[in-house]
Amino acid sequence: MTDETSLLIVCLGNICRSPMAEGALRARLGEAGLGHVRVDSAGTGDWHVGNPPDSRAIATAARHGVDISGLRARQLHVDDYRRFDWILAADLQNLRDVRARAPEDASARIELLTRWVGLEADVDEGAIPDPYTGGQEDFENVWRMVDDVARATVARLRAAIDA
Ligand code: 4NP
Repeated sequence: MTDETSLLIVCLGNICRSPMAEGALRARLGEAGLGHVRVDSAGTGDWHVGNPPDSRAIATAARHGVDISGLRARQLHVDDYRRFDWILAADLQNLRDVRARAPEDASARIELLTRWVGLEADVDEGAIPDPYTGGQEDFENVWRMVDDVARATVARLRAAIDA
């Protein structure tokens, strides 16, 4: 049995990177028969709370067969540190912010999203780059990265289950 059954993905706005990661993870985990793993996402910022993902993020996920249009942005909450096994940050600033807000009784482990699956060496600073001010190719690049993370997450969880 594994204690890696709930994952919270955190970026800045919760409208680009983390909802795309949530969608990719749900899709790959579902395909792998690991649909019981709880996946959610949140932002360190509150500007977009209640909003659907950025239209470019929705379109990019849809091009890859994943519907994220029903997701709604929320801000990271202190309860998240007790409700999730892992809180996984999209970039180093997100990681610093998540760590800085951790309550004393936090039980969640906190890590960089790429590092959690051993992919941080493949990308600059281990970061999923913020595509908000970029173009379609930046969103495609994010999708490729979060889908790599999702596939590697399936492998990690399978290995934990088999151990
Ligand atoms: P995300 O992208 O952190 O990947 O959701 C951003 C979305 C919105 C903003 C920044 C980044 N913003 O400044 O509003």
